[in-house]
Amino acid sequence: MRKAIKPAVFCACLVPFCWLFYLVWTNNLGPDPGEALAKESGEWTFRFLLATLAITPVQQFTGWRITNRYRRMIGLFSLFYASAHFLVYLMFVLGFRWGTLYTEILERPYITVGFSAFVILVALGITSPKAMLRKLGKNWKRLHRLIYVAAVLAMIHMIWILRSDFGEALIYGTVLTLLLGYRAVNWLRKRNRKLRLARGS
Ligand code: HEM
Repeated sequence: MRKAIKPAVFCACLVPFCWLFYLVWTNNLGPDPGEALAKESGEWTFRFLLATLAITPVQQFTGWRITNRYRRMIGLFSLFYASAHFLVYLMFVLGFRWGTLYTEILERPYITVGFSAFVILVALGITSPKAMLRKLGKNWKRLHRLIYVAAVLAMIHMIWILRSDFGEALIYGTVLTLLLGYRAVNWLRKRNRKLRLARGS
C-alpha cells in the first residue's frame, strides 16, 4: 500500500499537465491559446510552489512524517511547470527569437522578476538529488532556503501582470503570507530558545 503512494502522487501531479495537453490537442483553449496556456502553466507553477512550502507545516500539525518524502517530488514539479510556462513564453510571446529574451529580461521588470524566480527553481532542482545534499553539506539547507525568495518573486511577477482576477491573487497572496509567517514565527521561537539556553536560564 505504502509503495503505491509515491507513483499515485506522481500521477496526480501530472494531471494538470495532461489536462492542458488535452485542451491544446482538442483546440479548446479559447481565442488566445498562448495567453491561456501562459496563465494556466504559471498558476500551476505557483500552486506547486505553495504545496512545497505547505509540507513542513502540514507535517508539524499532523505528525504525518510521510509527507517529507514528497517534498522533493512536489518541488521538482514546480520546476517542471515553470519550465513549461517558460517554454510557452518563448514560443507564443517571443516566437523563439532568443535575442529578444535578453532585452525582455533587462527591460521588462515583471519578466526580470519571473525569470529570477525561475533561475532559483532551476538551481534548487539541480541541487535536489541526495548526492548534492551530501556534497553541499550545511550549504544545501542555506541554498534551499531560496525557495522563499522564489515564491515572493513569483508572487510579485503575478501581481505585476494581473489583468482581472484580483480575488485569485488575493487568495494566493494570503496563503503565501500564512506559510511564510508560520516559518518566521518558528524561526523566532527557535532563536529565542537558543538565546535563553545560552544565557543559562
Ligand atoms: C516561478 C516562476 C513563475 C511563476 C510562478 C509565474 C506565474 C505566472 C502567472 C500565474 C501568470 C498569469 C498571470 C495572469 O494573467 O493573471 C504568468 C504570466 C506570465 N508570465 Fe510568468 N511565472 C513565472 C516565471 C516566468 C518566466 C521565467 C517568464 C519569462 C521569462 C514569465 C513570463 C510570463 C508572461 C509573459 C506572462 C503573461 C502571459 C500572457 O498572459 O500573455 N513567467 N506568470
